[in-house]
Amino acid sequence: MKKLSSVHLADVNAVYSGAEGDLWELIMGQQIHIGGFKSSMDLAERAGIGAGQRGVDLCCCSGAGMRFLVRYRGVASMTGVDATAHVVERGRERCKSEGLDDRIRFVLGDVTASGLPAGEADFVWGEDAWCYVEDKPRLVEEAARIVRSGGVIAFTDWIEGPAGLSEDEAARFLGFMKFPTLASLDDYRSLLGKSGCEVLEAADTGRFAPYVALYLQMVDMQLTSDALRILGNDPKALEAVAGEMVFLQGLAQAGKIAQGRFIARRR
Ligand SMILES: C[S@@+](CC[C@H](N)C(=O)[O-])C[C@H]1O[C@@H](n2cnc3c(N)ncnc32)[C@H](O)[C@@H]1O
Repeated sequence: MKKLSSVHLADVNAVYSGAEGDLWELIMGQQIHIGGFKSSMDLAERAGIGAGQRGVDLCCCSGAGMRFLVRYRGVASMTGVDATAHVVERGRERCKSEGLDDRIRFVLGDVTASGLPAGEADFVWGEDAWCYVEDKPRLVEEAARIVRSGGVIAFTDWIEGPAGLSEDEAARFLGFMKFPTLASLDDYRSLLGKSGCEVLEAADTGRFAPYVALYLQMVDMQLTSDALRILGNDPKALEAVAGEMVFLQGLAQAGKIAQGRFIARRR
């Protein structure tokens, strides 16, 4: 597991309360994860998530994943946990204006100590977000505590790839992204196993490099002025962000980082 000891939850809160979070939403849409709808549908189908189930989204941001599950998978109800007040507030407003607030509720809190009841959820869900959580063993234990026996934990995440990051690359990547720690496929496999889960899938989606190329192209060819506005109309700031995105693209092409997909069943 890679670690950057200078980054903590307060830094992540700052990202999702300000310009950086808005920039991610401009590039990726309300579903702030690689692959958007397609990635969510793949994950839900493979994990057997569907009609009538009750789920928990850990690191739900403004709840786009929960709205997806309720609308397109017939999920009965969702509880989302997120530690950034700004996105929770935004999520509540969006659910209300879209008429989904009776089925989706938000809890403001740290996902490593959610306070949710044990063993009640049919599934726990996460999309490209657990990379922001410092204590991954506690996070996976909490997911396993919340889900009922026989239920599933299904998530995608940004992970270290099989080629591995050098210490310098890890410091630059984790520092830019504000990831306190970064797990690999094997790290998650082991954490899920230790938390009483049978791992059904732990795989690289192969989406990372082509999607970063897409984001770079969109900002260059279409969204330049919107990105500049978010960044205080500072071309140098945009150039710096684009430079780090190119660095990420190189890491992904070299198999040093990836988007992983994980599905595990609680024993
Ligand atoms: C990339 S966004 C999540 C995107 C969302 N899953 C989606 O697909 O739209 C990451 C979120 O993780 C939340 N987060 C990071 N660390 C957290 C923690 N320890 N507890 C709760 N939320 C956390 C941030 O506040 C942020 O809203």
